[in-house]
Amino acid sequence: MADASTKVLVVGAGIAGPVLSIFLKSKGYDPVIYERTDGPISDAGLSLCLQPNGLLVLNKVPGLVESIDGRSIDFFGFYSVLPEDKGTLAESDIPKVLREHRGVGLVGVRRAAFHQTLVHAAEKAGIPIMWGHKLVGLSQGDDYVTVKFENGSEATGSFVIGCDGLHSNTRTSLFGEEKADFTGLVQTGGICTIPESLKSTPPMVRNVFGHAAHMVMYPINGTQCSWAATQREPEAKETWKAMNKDGAREFREKTTFASWDYGAGDVVKSTETLIKYGLYDRPELAAWHKGRVCLIGDAAHPTSPHLGQGANQAFEDVGLLVELLDKHNPSSAPPSAAVLEAIFSELEKVRIPRTAALVKQARTQGESRVVDGVEACIKRNAAYREIWKDHDSVAKHMSHIYEDKQ
Ligand SMILES: Cc1cc2nc3c(=O)[nH]c(=O)nc-3n(C[C@H](O)[C@H](O)[C@H](O)COP(=O)(O)OP(=O)(O)OC[C@H]3O[C@@H](n4cnc5c(N)ncnc54)[C@H](O)[C@@H]3O)c2cc1C
Ligand SMILES: *[C@@H]1O[C@H](CO)[C@@H](O)[C@H](O)[C@H]1NC(C)=O
Ligand SMILES: *[C@@H]1O[C@H](CO)[C@@H](O)[C@H](O)[C@H]1NC(C)=O
Repeated sequence: MADASTKVLVVGAGIAGPVLSIFLKSKGYDPVIYERTDGPISDAGLSLCLQPNGLLVLNKVPGLVESIDGRSIDFFGFYSVLPEDKGTLAESDIPKVLREHRGVGLVGVRRAAFHQTLVHAAEKAGIPIMWGHKLVGLSQGDDYVTVKFENGSEATGSFVIGCDGLHSNTRTSLFGEEKADFTGLVQTGGICTIPESLKSTPPMVRNVFGHAAHMVMYPINGTQCSWAATQREPEAKETWKAMNKDGAREFREKTTFASWDYGAGDVVKSTETLIKYGLYDRPELAAWHKGRVCLIGDAAHPTSPHLGQGANQAFEDVGLLVELLDKHNPSSAPPSAAVLEAIFSELEKVRIPRTAALVKQARTQGESRVVDGVEACIKRNAAYREIWKDHDSVAKHMSHIYEDKQ
């Protein structure tokens, strides 16, 4: 097998890249990750909610899920602070039921901590991560791909998987430049110690609705929780970096959220560092691959976060891609152009419709959360009461929570 080593260039050491690489290595491939940043960024971003479909993929890596610092979620809660229609809209124990019946439920994690865990797991598996390598272009022949980095260096391998996120240069190299779509919604959020008012409630994804505004909160470990407030605002960049101190103080003191009930005001007032970011997605691509290069994760199908499916869909991509490599190339020898074509086409056939539908559903969900006007808000509240009234209704409207894959 020594001469059959198949070098795979994985672009991006975000969430999808390290996990894909761990699977590739375990199947006998020789993955190398190229990442733009100089190392993991410890204070970037907020949190992710791992869901059953994503966890089923992560569970296949021995020991990985056990090493994640996170918090299992037992409940969903929906509350309204609308003066005209205040109160509990719905509470559901679906996360707990899923975990008890299927072994996987929902887990809240801090994105930076989870990212560190994935990077360490990849390093432990012997996968080289080349930090400070920003892909700027690529060229391919019948049996190789060469990628070029910003500083002038190059790397050549058998095939390339682009896991380089929302602003993917791998995508640009294949399909040309196209701006991401701003959804019209902006989130401001942070991480804080779980406030006294929420300490006695079971771990929950808590949704609070007001006038043209929504807040989501969930625990990310035993002591901390993460929150994000969504509003319609002028375009804000998606940098995942901290807001300046004055902006943060103004948000804490002046926005509507500080006075909200159901713990929402408490978390806003007790958060030191705030992050503000615009929400983006992209229209569905007709194909994710060209020749020996294929996109997965946000590079292929970035989504607004309202279903919490961004990372989970990236893991579904990884799971199926690895299955297809196994099926069409069981020896893990350097695949021919025809073999790769079969693998990438089959991946697209299953994954493009699924992810496109979820991107649309996430947009609709976001729109419904921040409707304007009392009448529209009362209608929204009624819709949430209806959808979340029992498990059957939720299964019908929120199928992504129930489906294992595809
Ligand atoms: C710093 C950061 C913080 C985030 N925080 C949150 C959050 O709090 N909540 C949330 O819902 N989502 C967040 N996201 C997005 C979330 O991680 C993804 O939606 C999801 O997990 C899918 O993962 P991915 O691996 O496809 O993309 P990402 O996790 O975005 O990873 C892409 C990786 O590729 C790297 N990269 C980009 N361009 C190049 C290039 N040209 N060459 C080499 N490498 C490149 C990036 O630096 C990044 O490490 C964040 C993303 C980033 C990058
Ligand atoms: C590019 O950066 C990498 C990593 O920092 C380094 O190893 C390499 O020598 C650099 N190449 C050039 C041409 O500067
Ligand atoms: C929770 O996470 C924070 C960092 O995000 C860490 O400082 C703290 O020790 C963690 N607490 C527990 C109980 O794991």
